[in-house]
Amino acid sequence: MQTLIRNGIVVTEAGPAAADILIDGETIAAIGPELVVPESVRTINAADCYVFPGGIDVHTHLDWNFADKKTSDDFVTGSKAAAAGGITSIINFTNRRAGQSLYEDLLEWQERAKPCNVDYGFHIIINDYNDSMIADLPKLREAGATSIKLFMAYKGVFMVDDGAMYNIMKEAGRLGFMTCVHAENGEVIDRIIKEHLERGDVDPVYHSLSRPPEMEAEAAHRAIEIADLAGAPLYIVHVSSAAALEEIRIAKAAGKKVYGETCPQYLALDITDLQRPDYEGSKYVCSPPLREKWNQERLWSGIAGEALDTIGSDHSPFSFEEKKRLAAIDFSRIPNGVPVIEEQYGIVYHHGVQEKRISLERFAEITSTNPAKLFGMYPRKGVIAVGSDADLVIMDPSRTRLLSRAYQQHNTDYNAFEGKEIQGVIRHVLSRGEIVAQDGKYIGSERRGQYLHRKPANAIMGRKQ
Ligand code: URP
Ligand code: ZN
Ligand code: ZN
Repeated sequence: MQTLIRNGIVVTEAGPAAADILIDGETIAAIGPELVVPESVRTINAADCYVFPGGIDVHTHLDWNFADKKTSDDFVTGSKAAAAGGITSIINFTNRRAGQSLYEDLLEWQERAKPCNVDYGFHIIINDYNDSMIADLPKLREAGATSIKLFMAYKGVFMVDDGAMYNIMKEAGRLGFMTCVHAENGEVIDRIIKEHLERGDVDPVYHSLSRPPEMEAEAAHRAIEIADLAGAPLYIVHVSSAAALEEIRIAKAAGKKVYGETCPQYLALDITDLQRPDYEGSKYVCSPPLREKWNQERLWSGIAGEALDTIGSDHSPFSFEEKKRLAAIDFSRIPNGVPVIEEQYGIVYHHGVQEKRISLERFAEITSTNPAKLFGMYPRKGVIAVGSDADLVIMDPSRTRLLSRAYQQHNTDYNAFEGKEIQGVIRHVLSRGEIVAQDGKYIGSERRGQYLHRKPANAIMGRKQ
């Protein structure tokens, strides 16, 4: 089947340009002004709309367990929400069961993700580490899972020590893997949590006060130095503070292969949300935590100035009912994470492009091109070009959208951005040529996502700085 997207303003990393796009089957066949096609070709009129490359969210936790708690979205609801919000590819974290090898973990997650409705890949979490595990890395690479994730926090659940990090990164770097790291100093944070609880400081805001930005920056610095010694490219996930950002900026300036991701929650929410009454603050418990508001402008400067490379959602949704119940005991029991997968693209467009913090092309870079390059999917994904997958977002910048539980597709009993009005309405989302979402609703076929067999991620991004 052919589809013509007519009269749109096509945005790529090179900038916006008026053009038509012809899709043939699953890929882009032609791009140019006033393309001539037979009348029978399905046409979408994109006049006065932007056409962006489909969003790529490389940080999702669908069908995921945090200790004994399960996220409220599985691959069906989470992927429909993603598509409705402009995301056409995801990389989800695995969650290896005790006794499984890394490769068995991947095989299990490939099976679990079969109902997914957008294209999907996996970062393999390495916890509970022993040296024999890294023997599986070549098999993972062969299977197209070319990134791993290490945690420097959550002791007893996911955390690995510095020696393990060094060992894993050495092998990962040699094989062309991207190592993703959760950078927070878990040892010190656990002591601070204990101090707060002993004093009776149990409200949700103490979650943030237990995890100071200095301990995020310290861990980021440590990860950067270990990765550099190990010869491994490093991707620091969910950067929340100006202090951690500064570590990345310095490392990049020194030519180190370090990349940074931030998330919409750190750009649009802040520590005061944790102070909402009646345990409502528990909705906003995530790690690293929401920071003082002034950090937001610094993160935006990092995005505009290229110290930060991507936006990930860190969609890790748990019901308010459950968060509230546990918050009544103390903040340390509240499952970590915020539902963001559906709102992220619109929020970043609104605060970024609409409020003139970043250009249209930078928006396309951070939401699509850069994640595709860093995680071995480019140029099949991440760009509007002949031969690339027809993953496209058509956005009408003149209309506004209200974020609310009443309209959301994701399966959480609250919306973290309830009542927020954002400029820009996503009219259509196409994934490999199929219209999968229209006006905020998923309309695609079921179980349509494909596993993304990714190339080794050899940090192929060009640097302008
Ligand atoms: O609060 C968060 N971010 N929960 C999900 C696990 C993680 O740290 O990414
Ligand atoms: Zn994390
Ligand atoms: Zn996460």
